[in-house]
Amino acid sequence: MSTSDDNSDFEALLDYLKQNCGCNLTGYKHASLMRRLQHRMQQLNIENYRNYLQYLHYHPEEYASLLDTILINYSGFFRDRDSWDYLANQIIPQIITNKQPHERIRVWSAGCACGQEVYTLAMLLVESLGIEQYLQRVQIFATDLDEDALKQARQGSYSEQEIAGISSEFLSKYFEQIEQRYVFHSKLRCPIIFGRHDLTKDAPMSKIDLLVCRNVLIYVQPKTQVSILVRFHFALTKNSFFFLGNSESLINSKQIFTPINLKHRIFAKGQNLTLQDHLLIRPQTRNKKAVDPLTMQTRIWQAAFENSPFAQIAVDRTGRLLVANEQAYALFYLKNGDIGAQVQDLEVGRVVNSWAFMRQLDRDWAKPTAGGNRQPMSRKNIEWATDISTIYLDIYITPISDQSGKLLGANLTFIDVTSYRELEDELKHTNSKLTRVTQELQSTKNVLATTHTELECAQKELDTVHQEIQLIRQDLHHI
Ligand SMILES: C[S@@+](CC[C@H](N)C(=O)[O-])C[C@H]1O[C@@H](n2cnc3c(N)ncnc32)[C@H](O)[C@@H]1O
Repeated sequence: MSTSDDNSDFEALLDYLKQNCGCNLTGYKHASLMRRLQHRMQQLNIENYRNYLQYLHYHPEEYASLLDTILINYSGFFRDRDSWDYLANQIIPQIITNKQPHERIRVWSAGCACGQEVYTLAMLLVESLGIEQYLQRVQIFATDLDEDALKQARQGSYSEQEIAGISSEFLSKYFEQIEQRYVFHSKLRCPIIFGRHDLTKDAPMSKIDLLVCRNVLIYVQPKTQVSILVRFHFALTKNSFFFLGNSESLINSKQIFTPINLKHRIFAKGQNLTLQDHLLIRPQTRNKKAVDPLTMQTRIWQAAFENSPFAQIAVDRTGRLLVANEQAYALFYLKNGDIGAQVQDLEVGRVVNSWAFMRQLDRDWAKPTAGGNRQPMSRKNIEWATDISTIYLDIYITPISDQSGKLLGANLTFIDVTSYRELEDELKHTNSKLTRVTQELQSTKNVLATTHTELECAQKELDTVHQEIQLIRQDLHHI
């Protein structure tokens, strides 16, 4: 039985981890946390939380073992196979049908552990789309709190025991055997982006079509679960799906998600959530001390970049593509594999000469700030003839520098001005038509004026003739 001293020492330990290790476990279920901590303390022969806190203080390397104990990275390929079959046969085809053929498909595996779940997803997406389409259109975000687990996930290398859930057909199709290990094909790893992400505090991904978060929420307390679910709701697009672990139930009082198949724990994004609910995320970030301003700034910049209505890319000093937002991917037919390529070798290179403008930025940068031009450059009305149509773009090029003022690269924003250009052309055409009609009107007026004068003369002549006839008549009368 735990005493009140135990409880306050336990709270002090959680507080220490939060303040010093950036690991906030306060939202996790206390009973299971305590069980696991005690297991670890027994291994070290430590009697209570207070002593363990001291131990942690003097042995910072213990933090990694502590996380291993608490986070439990157990996973498996096709874990709960029936549910994965349902996902493959019923859900993935719907996601594909809901999209235009060129549109990207964004998937998020949240709490991906050592990667088995991510590669399961990748295999099913290749099966549905084919390798070519998978490489071109799919983007998978694979996140976890645990760096060690992510390290293994990135390698994609598994033991004989670990690959037990994979059929022999898939094993030979998707894995390469290297000695005693099975390694997921590196080419198929290109669309996968691995990263450390804490579901309880980090900003969610965006525009996700399929969110897989299995066997993670069971560890967190109901209040924290709700705030994670609200973040998930924010992350998902309109026609998206959410896939939960088989032993998990959803705190869904506000109908955040609509069940599609309860047995397989598959949900669709509910449409009833209000802005108020989304703001539930706030209390977590209200503690100003906990928010690193740089991280916050980066997130805001990232969100602005991703959600910009205009296509944007960033290039490094040598003209290599570093990052592109969704609009740029769609406009310039970019593929995941294009990141790192020279802009000049891509379709976008037909619109803008990255070497030329980087040379100019370099030259401007070398000038003293007062005299030098460090303002964004622009190129107006650049014509881009594609197979389907001709597009006109205004391009704004903004230099990017580091804190010491060294030029790192540039951000390019492309604004499609084709419709303005068409309006302008139409206006020009209408103006010249107007000028022509005015000229015609003028010459008609002139003709009319002449005709009027001629008529007047004719009238006068007629009057004269009339007069003469009168005179002749009078004359005749006298005779
Ligand atoms: C039991 S594993 C589940 C792995 C996989 N999703 C599956 O079902 O096979 C739980 C994973 O959740 C991760 N996790 C726990 N808390 C997390 C958090 N706050 N943010 C992100 N990941 C977390 C752990 O590190 C662990 O890798």
